[in-house]
Amino acid sequence: MSNIIRRPRRLRQSDSMRRLVAETTLSVDDLIAPLFVREDIDSPQEVSSLPGVMQHTQESLIEQVGKLADLGVPGVIVFGVPAHKDAEGSQAWNPDGVVQVALQNLSAAYGDRITVATDLCLDEYTDHGHCGVVLDNGEVDNDSTIELYAKVAVAQAKAGAQVVAPSGMMDGQVAAIREALDGAGYINVPILAYSAKYASSFYGPFRDAVNVSIANGGNRKAYQQDFRNGREAIEEIKLDIAEGADMIMVKPALAYLDVIAEARAKFDVPISAYQVSGEYAMIKYAAAQGVLDEEAVMMETLTSIKRAGADFILTYFAEAVAKKLN
Ligand code: PBG
Repeated sequence: MSNIIRRPRRLRQSDSMRRLVAETTLSVDDLIAPLFVREDIDSPQEVSSLPGVMQHTQESLIEQVGKLADLGVPGVIVFGVPAHKDAEGSQAWNPDGVVQVALQNLSAAYGDRITVATDLCLDEYTDHGHCGVVLDNGEVDNDSTIELYAKVAVAQAKAGAQVVAPSGMMDGQVAAIREALDGAGYINVPILAYSAKYASSFYGPFRDAVNVSIANGGNRKAYQQDFRNGREAIEEIKLDIAEGADMIMVKPALAYLDVIAEARAKFDVPISAYQVSGEYAMIKYAAAQGVLDEEAVMMETLTSIKRAGADFILTYFAEAVAKKLN
């Protein structure tokens, strides 16, 4: 057997050799922690379907962001859970709304020690749970919705958002937000566009975290992408970059690694991926049942997302990964 090429196994002989030839490294610098701040609570509450993830009070949010900054996590993305919801979602642009207050607190406490991004959408704020204005016929209206997104963007930037991340999947939303931010003088606030966002059943636990249920058993299939489509994601990303997106996102992550890889091959802007609530919950619950090794699967999935081509990852494991890697 002299013709066997032995390079593959030769280079796997020891941990130090494997480290030397590793192509992908997950670093604390790659992480953004999604955080929830809720208006009407006196103490932080764990989200029932997301073990270890909290709905924060303003105070506990400040503490949590400080802890993440101390661990070296470079970014957080804040989601608001308002006490009052209405048809338009007006708390989303109220200067005293829950996220705007959080942004003011966080910029006073930490300045630019940690990058504070905001999810820019309306579903957390509307009483019907859709991401925009619902017409009488039940349709979510694109053009009046992006006017509201523009207002939310300015309110968030004014309160101190360092990145805004539109997640509503309306056509033209990035252009509308860029124009509004520039018009209000926020030319340096970048847009992280949720460009390839799929209508996914992996978002279930997130909706508990933000107390959202879509009215009349509805869904988001008329605005978020169909999971059967890959080429369409490239079209969405192309449009968002043309409209002024500074960074783009693929969401969810693990079931869409092909989309991340294709985006990496085609675009040079920073690419992120969101390991969403359902991906996190599957690992947590399987580990709690003794079926999977939580830490090992956490590292394997996140490293796979990077290997596919993501520059950074939004993940509920951010704190755990930072603790492990520190
Ligand atoms: C919309 C938004 C959603 C998520 C992030 N932003 C939910 C949705 O589109 O229904 C999901 C995140 C997760 O599941 O972790 N504001």
